[in-house]
Parts: sequence; C-alpha cells; structure tokens
Amino acid sequence: MADIDIVTAMSYPNIDSLPQHVAIIMDGNGRWARQHGLPRLAGHWEGATNAHRVVEILFDRRVKYVTLYVFSTENWDRPKEEVEGIFQILMDRIDEEVEFAQRTKIRICHLGKLDGLPPELRNKINHAVELTKSNKAMTVSLALNYGGRDEIVGAVQHLLRDGISAGNVDEALFRRYLSTAGMPDPDLIIRTGGEMRLSNFLLWQAAYAEFYSTPVLWPDFNCDEVDKAFIAYRERRRRFGSVTPSD
Ligand code: IPE
Ligand code: IPE
Ligand code: MG
Repeated sequence: MADIDIVTAMSYPNIDSLPQHVAIIMDGNGRWARQHGLPRLAGHWEGATNAHRVVEILFDRRVKYVTLYVFSTENWDRPKEEVEGIFQILMDRIDEEVEFAQRTKIRICHLGKLDGLPPELRNKINHAVELTKSNKAMTVSLALNYGGRDEIVGAVQHLLRDGISAGNVDEALFRRYLSTAGMPDPDLIIRTGGEMRLSNFLLWQAAYAEFYSTPVLWPDFNCDEVDKAFIAYRERRRRFGSVTPSD
C-alpha cells in the first residue's frame, strides 16, 4: 500500500474535502466481459478483483466507510447460472478477503438479507462480520441481497414489532432500524458503467449524497478514476438545503 501521508498530502491538500463515506454501485462487469470476448462471469471475477484494489486505494486515502453494492434484490431476475456463478465467486474469494481485513484492521459489515443466500455463503458472511467486528481502521459494508425499498419495509416491520407508537417515530429513531445503523450517510456515491440511477441503492441514506457517474466499466475503475471522482467531489458545494455566504 502507498504511504498514506504522502498520498494524502500530495493529492488532497484540504483533508476536510475528502468524503468520509464512499458508496459504490459497481456496474459494468457484463459489458466489460463482452468487450473482451469473455463470458459474463469472467467480468464478475474481474469485478471482484477490482473491488479489492479499490478498497486498498480508499484505505490509503483514509476513507473511513466504504459501501459496495455487490448484489441487489432485483439481481435475482438474472439467469440462474449467472446468479449461482456470482455467489460461487464470492465463496471462492471471501476467505482471502477476511484475512486481508484482519491484517489491516478492517471491519466487514453486511447490508441486506442473508435469508435466501446459499447457506455456506451465509455462514461465511456471518463469520466475517463476527471476526472483524472490533476492527477500527475502516468499515467495508457489502450490500449483498440488498434493496433500499426492502430495507425500509424491514425497518417499518421491526418498529411495529417493537411496539413503537406513531408519535415516537422520528428520523433519528428510524435510521437506527436501517442496516446502516450507527454509520454516517454516504458523502459520495460513485456509479460506474454510465447509468444515472440509484437502482434501489441506499434510498434513505442517499438523501444528501453527492452523485458521481462515470462511463468507465467497473473492472477498469482504477486509481486515476478514483482521483477524478474525488476531484469532482471536492468541487461540489454541499448546502444541505441551506444557503452559504457566497450564495
Ligand atoms: C454489475 O455488473 C454487477 C452486478 C449487478 C452483480 P453488471 O453485471 O450489471 O454489468 P452490466 O451492466 O451488464 O455491464
Ligand atoms: C446495480 O446494477 C446493482 C449492482 C451493481 C449490484 P444493475 O446492473 O443491477 O442495475 P440496473 O439493472 O442497470 O438498474
Ligand atoms: Mg448492470
């Protein structure tokens, strides 16, 4: 890994302009595979390799929270072979990623529903979350079998089961029922592959996130592309509905 202080000082003179939480819609694996004359699963394999590389880059940049959109609740509509293939890739690679997380003191979280995932994968995710739960260097959340609407409906069900009355429900309480409870909202949402939509990602949490979309396909999203996204982020003026003296 690059020397943190040198990278930070050279590229980012104003540390405050760095996003604390970066969430990524890792799109374009299928198109990348087609471009290279390969089956779609080869694109997913390459996408997983790149997810590791980008986490390392963001670690070096001292980003504290990284959330990766790995598999949406709508992705079940894909052909069975593709869905099973994606889960197999995760199974093949997760042990290595957990070792990496332990070495670097990264906490792994899971967003979404474990129900419905293959039991072996479910066990491995539970193990990863449990083993790394006290790590403090960075939090990497895997949105896997995740959908923003599903998360909100789940939060409402949970509130009702807890017997919370309508008058006691406010935003602060509601966010504690989301799978991101305890985490700051994303500052920057990056989408690769060129689409300009959220595709059911972090619907509640994205309220004031800065959105950055690039046509670069996920397996090609490298260090230079991270820098471009950060530069674009630094140039945004975040008002949160307010006005600033320069407005
Ligand atoms: C994103 O890449 C990965 C998942 C949704 C699992 P895609 O598989 O959607 O790639 P494209 O959009 O077809 O290129
Ligand atoms: C979003 O990509 C989901 C993930 C990256 C996991 P999709 O490829 O599923 O999104 P749509 O279908 O183009 O909206
Ligand atoms: Mg896609």
